[in-house]
Amino acid sequence: MMIVALNNKCNLTKKEFREYQIKLQEVKTTSKLILCPSFLYLDQFNLTNIKLGAQNVSTTDCGAYTGEVSAKQLKEENVDYCIVGHSERREYQQEKNEEINEKIKRLFSYQITPILCVGEKRSEREEGLEKQVVLKELTMATKDLTEEEKGKVIIAYEPIWSIGTGLIPTAEQIIEIIHTIKEMFPQNKVLYGGSANEENIDTLKEISEIDGYLLGGLSLKPEKLQIFLEKLEK
Ligand code: 13P
Repeated sequence: MMIVALNNKCNLTKKEFREYQIKLQEVKTTSKLILCPSFLYLDQFNLTNIKLGAQNVSTTDCGAYTGEVSAKQLKEENVDYCIVGHSERREYQQEKNEEINEKIKRLFSYQITPILCVGEKRSEREEGLEKQVVLKELTMATKDLTEEEKGKVIIAYEPIWSIGTGLIPTAEQIIEIIHTIKEMFPQNKVLYGGSANEENIDTLKEISEIDGYLLGGLSLKPEKLQIFLEKLEK
């Protein structure tokens, strides 16, 4: 089954989220949909056709950590998945692979499945470093996990130069990276993320190596998301 994860990022007011949720309820799909809204709306989530995810988690458990949200708290909100290591957090919050590793361990201790984002910058691809970057991120983020835990991590390949830019890698570029990932992580689901939309899905869906998608911009447009899913599942 294809996995389609919706990363709302820092979008939607409370009123907009209510309307959005009503529209999402109408979406028809045979894929597994995972909605990752703002923390603020986790407890408003009431859809039965979609799984719930978070966009981030603390490296710490509950305690004196102002502004943090722990894996335990997420679990109580019925969160089953959590994005970690998104490139926006790596860039704007200077998140490091070591912290991402801590977060993944916290998630597993509360049976929450991590969706681990990896991907190279434009300059790294220009220098031919993309495989090296992705493998380093994966190795460091999964350090000291059990083999069973390692196999459960959902990996999202999101080339940074592709996020929100309308640019997508060629099929050969995506296949090359996914093969590299699967050599090291043969059991894992690998999603593609970065400007995936209802138009380029016709091309992307031909890539049999892709186990699903992590959608940013398109996640906020239920009508276009429906077209995307119909094309993907045709
Ligand atoms: P876009 O789909 O808007 O390019 O964002 C991708 C992304 O960052 C999902 O996590």
